[in-house]
Amino acid sequence: MLVLGLESSCDETAAALVEDGTRIRSSVVASQVLRHSKFKGVVPEIASREHVKALLPVVRAALDEAGATLRDLDVIAVTTEPGLVGALLLGVAAAEALGLALGRPVVGVNHIEAHLSAPFLSPEVRAEWPLVSLVASGGHTHFFYSKSPIDHRLLGATLDDAAGEAFDKVAAVLGLGYPGGPAIEVAAKEGDAKAFPFKRPVLAPDGFDVSFSGLKTAVKYRCFGQYEDGRPRESLLPGVRTADVAASFQAAVVDTLTAKARLAVRKTGVRRFAIGGGVACNGPLRSSLMAAGKADGFEVLLTPPAFCTDNAAMIAAQGFHVARLAGPPPIPLVVRSRASWTRIAP
Ligand code: KG4
Ligand code: ZN
Repeated sequence: MLVLGLESSCDETAAALVEDGTRIRSSVVASQVLRHSKFKGVVPEIASREHVKALLPVVRAALDEAGATLRDLDVIAVTTEPGLVGALLLGVAAAEALGLALGRPVVGVNHIEAHLSAPFLSPEVRAEWPLVSLVASGGHTHFFYSKSPIDHRLLGATLDDAAGEAFDKVAAVLGLGYPGGPAIEVAAKEGDAKAFPFKRPVLAPDGFDVSFSGLKTAVKYRCFGQYEDGRPRESLLPGVRTADVAASFQAAVVDTLTAKARLAVRKTGVRRFAIGGGVACNGPLRSSLMAAGKADGFEVLLTPPAFCTDNAAMIAAQGFHVARLAGPPPIPLVVRSRASWTRIAP
């Protein structure tokens, strides 16, 4: 089954062709990051306008890269949630127009669940469920128990900032730029992860919820000091090195996520742990999860780095599962700014 995936939930316009949920024929991403950087965040109206310009060119580029034509497509998959509503609607309009013109089914895909199809974007990886997993991105830090690629139960999540958001905010206070995750990872290479023993925000040791906003505040007060009125200062305290702060912060996030991954395996008895989302690019996190898997005897499925951050190959892969396993899609597709899952207590 050849699926065209379309992604437009935030500030990337992407199209990809994937066969049977695993074989990538093409993947094209047009990033808007430079259009938003001067505003220090994504401006929804600008995102929508950029998607209008980029959607059809990325579809054309994805078809060309795959050496395919529109007629070769079996299914069109598009992100319907969560995301910026205006941005989502543009992707859906493009997908429905193509589906109507070609007489092909159009399926809606949950972007977060699609991040969990990304570890399988290689024919060598066994596509088997159940799984326990983590999606760690700019907006989500969610631990799941997944019975199938379209049946995900929530084990726990961040109560405030997502892991990627914490990387972005700490990078901003350190003056390292946006996106913060890659910048912190690079800065941390020269640093001592033990320089600042930040508290690991694991919350209840027996539960899956985490919290990263206190860690960000701890970085501010511990490394920047305070004015007399209690506000944190803008520059690092004398003798505090940016690299040490970056390494210590990163270690606190990595330790927290690894502890919850081990707990997920232990509590569910499922011995396969998958990770996706932008933060899954992080080298120390990948190494830490691999080491935990080796020590505790579970398999770790890492998303290939190129498909951790937002892309449409994961949307096409998830679209394959939705088309195969779910009932007929609603017409017209419904978009939602937020997604929710049933919570379970293992
Ligand atoms: O999945 P994604 O591309 O977009 C969302 O759906 O949010 O994730 C983007 C997030 C950003 O917060 C970025 O700082 C983070 O992923 N990120 C990283 C790394 N690369 C991207 N965080 C830590 N280490 C990285 N190497
Ligand atoms: Zn994402």
